[in-house]
Amino acid sequence: MKFKALLISLVFAYSSLLFASSQQGAVAMPDTYSANAAVQILKQGGNAIDAAITAQFVLAVTLPEAGNIGGGGFMLVHKDGQDDFIDYREKAPITASRDMYLDQKGEVIPYKSVYGVFSSGIPGTVAGMWLAHQKHGSLPWKTLVQPAVDLAEQGFIVHPKLASNINRYIKRMENKDLAVNFAEYFSKAKSNELFKQVELAKTMIRIRDHGMQGFYQGKTADLIADFMKKNDGLISHKDLATYQAKSRIPISANWNGYKILTSPPPSSGGIAILQWLEMYQLKSPTKQVAHNSTLYMHLLAEIGKRVFADRAEYLGDPDFINVPQQQLISENYLAFRAKDITLNKISITEKIQTSLVESEETTHFSVVDKWGNAVSNTTTLNLGFGSGMVVTGAGFILNNEMDDFSAKPGVANVFGALGGVANEIQPQKRMLSSMTPTIVLKDGNIFMVTGSPGGTTIISSVYQSILNVIEYDMTATQAVNAPRFHHQLWPKNVIRHHNGIRNDVKTELKTMGYELDNRRFGDMHIIVNRNDQLEAGSEASGRGKAIVIH
Ligand code: GLY
Repeated sequence: MKFKALLISLVFAYSSLLFASSQQGAVAMPDTYSANAAVQILKQGGNAIDAAITAQFVLAVTLPEAGNIGGGGFMLVHKDGQDDFIDYREKAPITASRDMYLDQKGEVIPYKSVYGVFSSGIPGTVAGMWLAHQKHGSLPWKTLVQPAVDLAEQGFIVHPKLASNINRYIKRMENKDLAVNFAEYFSKAKSNELFKQVELAKTMIRIRDHGMQGFYQGKTADLIADFMKKNDGLISHKDLATYQAKSRIPISANWNGYKILTSPPPSSGGIAILQWLEMYQLKSPTKQVAHNSTLYMHLLAEIGKRVFADRAEYLGDPDFINVPQQQLISENYLAFRAKDITLNKISITEKIQTSLVESEETTHFSVVDKWGNAVSNTTTLNLGFGSGMVVTGAGFILNNEMDDFSAKPGVANVFGALGGVANEIQPQKRMLSSMTPTIVLKDGNIFMVTGSPGGTTIISSVYQSILNVIEYDMTATQAVNAPRFHHQLWPKNVIRHHNGIRNDVKTELKTMGYELDNRRFGDMHIIVNRNDQLEAGSEASGRGKAIVIH
């Protein structure tokens, strides 16, 4: 009798475990359209990768600031216990050259790497989604692209925040007197009104019906190549026909009892977050320093100086340069790197080395399916609305990702960015990125899926989200909304931060010699799996939506 009762309770426990995990999935998305479409795909039996592909295409319609088919990004996949990193970063055109943004005196020409199609790298997004689908998808490609076709063709209601971003961008272009065609396409998008994109719908239909070839060959490729010729751009039919997304091995490291899977070069982010987390562990004087205290912020700022110095010196496209990846994240190296950090005094910036800065408009989403597969995807046009140029007849915005190269090593670009030789322009090279899609595993299972937009601040958002959840036990919603801060060597001793840092902490930091810059950054969408219960959190300042499916 006793044995029978035990057996029944074991069967019950096992089936309720199965029930808990088989009933759940979650998405954390930068807008409602992508969230709803991704949930529909999961409910139709699609896996996390299917839902991510749908979300990526939907965002190209409904979040034109950063969602795209004319840009690129990184997708980190954990599926059936295996890991994959789909690198769909843009590449420099074949005719690009190191000094293409310099004048005859060797000075950087303002805005040339930022506005107009001369600033565009070869788009990687469609190839990336295609590769992800070939390797990991389960539903038909057409099913996954159709929601984007519908939203472009039938229109969507414009969120007030999108309408205001569009208005601000159009005014900025007018003030700068820049000849971009953005307003021709987007001035009709009014707050809370329906907005249709007829040309984009046709491009999406070609992608739906012909897959990757519907973008890189045929009519879409003709439209891009013609547009380039008319506007002095470099991307040719050959650039498009030869573009390939790459499957790379994610960086994987044990930290604090967890396994962190993160982004390898050409992302700088994976190496950077691991350096940050490991040096924090090595230097933090007690088991837990109070969250966002003076000591916490100073220690992490000091680490940031070293992380960004390494980034400028060593990181770039691994197909072109030798990145000492293992060395940069090894415990011995990080112990050496952290040894001169003092807990009560700022170190001298000039003695450390230079760093890069990047644009902050990008977007990120996270998906977990009922089988425990996960996708962390960050995608970008670089600046908000990219190059400001919409391909005539094809209706999509082209990126200005070439600005993520260093236009001239050692010299600041228009955003004050300093770059190293490792990231100088070469034909077909991928530009260095800070995008850091990351997945944290506990005992082989998904524990956390995280990532953010924000240029170089992405790295701070990601490592702080991990500290928030693991060290400070925050829920997904608390973790994305906790005030964050960022320091990256230059500007000297400046800590950028969100609202919400305590006044006494700010006073103490100022007394130490820091300058504080209160400006928001990032837009986090994360999923946490605690005791087989999924939590999804989208940052309240954005227009995101997080849904757990029960
Ligand atoms: N364009 C921003 C990044 O790739 O980091």
